[in-house]
Amino acid sequence: GAIRYDIIIEYLPMLLKVGVLTTLELTIISVTVGTILGLFISLLRLSKFRPFSIFGSVYVDFFRGTPLLVQIFMIHFAILPLIIPGQYPNIISGLVALSLNSAAYVAEIFRAGIQSIDRGQMEAARSLGMTHGQAMRYVIIPQAFKRVIPALGNEFIAMLKDSSLVSAISVQELAMTGTIIANRTYRPFEPWIVVAILYLIMTLALSQIVAYLERRFGKSDTR
Ligand code: ARG
Repeated sequence: GAIRYDIIIEYLPMLLKVGVLTTLELTIISVTVGTILGLFISLLRLSKFRPFSIFGSVYVDFFRGTPLLVQIFMIHFAILPLIIPGQYPNIISGLVALSLNSAAYVAEIFRAGIQSIDRGQMEAARSLGMTHGQAMRYVIIPQAFKRVIPALGNEFIAMLKDSSLVSAISVQELAMTGTIIANRTYRPFEPWIVVAILYLIMTLALSQIVAYLERRFGKSDTR
């Protein structure tokens, strides 16, 4: 039959105020935590101390080598119940799973970024009397960070879409909101068209922002 615009109008506020908002929250928090954790894990991976580099490799292998959906179920039904006693909101499991997963991808981004900095930078910093740690912190990482901004932007866009997987544990982000509306109205057509358009608007807007940041930060490198 015809498109039921009344359903779209009735449920658009819910799709925006609950769905889009929760999806943005999940994405922003996960990629932020993932970036901090990911930088740390990339440094473990690059460490000359074998136990650290092995831990870093195992971490990245596990979170990139198993499906995010399985990680969400494992963390929600097996890991967190062991650590957190009693009830807690499902979104906590979602945030933990997305953050830990994102950290693995970000760790690889940073590793590549750090390794792309000319070794002369480290040698110059060391010859000025900096320790290895100081050279990393004040010379290598700031340059690497600038270089990986486009890749971090891609990770952000990827997580925006992949955050829809937490709908499998009933976290009411955008995809779960689509499911709820389809079930409630017996009309799957309208909610899923609108959900797709809302994701598309968010990813297109994000890639514009990434392109802008790339232009801004890319320039100062080739002054
Ligand atoms: N399709 C991938 C999976 O199921 C999604 C993981 C991507 N995660 C990320 N942080 N980019 O494992």
